[in-house]
Amino acid sequence: MTNTGIAMIGSGSATPPVSLDNQRLSQIVETSDEWIASRTGIRDRRVADPQTSLCSLATAASKQAIAMAQIDPSEIDLIVLATSTPDDLFGSASQIQAQLGATQAVAFDLTAACSGFIFGLVTAAQFIRTGVYKTVLLIGGDILSRWVDWSDRRTCVLFGDGAGAVVLQASECDRLLGFELRSDGTQNGCLNLSFQAQPQPLIDQITVSRGTYQPITMNGKEVYRFAVKKVPEVIEKALFRADLTVDQINWLILHQANQRIIDAVAQRLNIPSDRVISNLANYGNTSAASIPIALDEAVRAGKIKPGDVIATSGFGAGLTWGAAIFQWGI
Ligand code: UT7
Repeated sequence: MTNTGIAMIGSGSATPPVSLDNQRLSQIVETSDEWIASRTGIRDRRVADPQTSLCSLATAASKQAIAMAQIDPSEIDLIVLATSTPDDLFGSASQIQAQLGATQAVAFDLTAACSGFIFGLVTAAQFIRTGVYKTVLLIGGDILSRWVDWSDRRTCVLFGDGAGAVVLQASECDRLLGFELRSDGTQNGCLNLSFQAQPQPLIDQITVSRGTYQPITMNGKEVYRFAVKKVPEVIEKALFRADLTVDQINWLILHQANQRIIDAVAQRLNIPSDRVISNLANYGNTSAASIPIALDEAVRAGKIKPGDVIATSGFGAGLTWGAAIFQWGI
């Protein structure tokens, strides 16, 4: 038998120490704890101070995952960093590789917004399944506070910063039971963090574009509608591929964007609330980090046990969405 299955053998997470609760946010924009909590379920979020980088959060989360997996950093063949907010637009994964001393690993960034962890998991799995790599570190991390318009109450109350990581390893038994990934660029305008060009004439007929990225804009209602419709569908598709039914799921971990979305999806799939993992009250929407942070907290709390079947789904800008069904542990 060949080792071309995938097992998830370690997890870790890190959030910045500075918290910004709804009460304090209401001193920045016209909002209230009541509005934010009732519309989203969020009560608090962590924000990175200028000394906290994406690499520092990702490295801290990775160290925990590596320790739980009981591997040496030199055993890691590949590091995939799912992020939309790298410290360096050329990519931040290599810096993490250096900070971890993962001397043998090749490292790259992957961008799929809030679906990044799921897209990264499936990407990592392909390298393991083909037998190319044996040990992969997958990180989901974002510092969206850098890109939020702190005067826009429709968006600034939603997001928080953090990173989560998992170690994936080749295994005889394949614990990634099924997945489905989707994109729909026709709805790209619903959620953006886009570059706005400012023409700069250089010479003769040649003009280049300088400029900068504009703060996050979102059509919340459209994204909400999209999530509530598409997430149950994509989970059902992934379950079908896994040859499993909803009753066989031990835990549902959705991208932590809005408690109302989590509740609506669970209800549509007939998953009781005691099997749904949610921590967004404490962290808000941490984008690519939300699933691995929730996973790590549940593993460390002893909720998720080896062999448990987890249905997970990410959704967000792109638009992108996807689901993966996997079993925790070796
Ligand atoms: O990770 C990416 C995925 N993103 C998401 O999943 C986000 C999905 N969307 C949502 O979660 C919800 O649409 C929101 C939480 C963003 C908004 O909730 P909503 O129930 O759709 O509210 P709304 O946008 O319809 O706004 C209702 C009212 C508006 O006032 P009017 O026009 O009715 O007078 C807003 O101006 O609430 C107002 N409002 C606020 N009031 C107090 C909007 N933001 C706030 C706020 N505080 N922070």
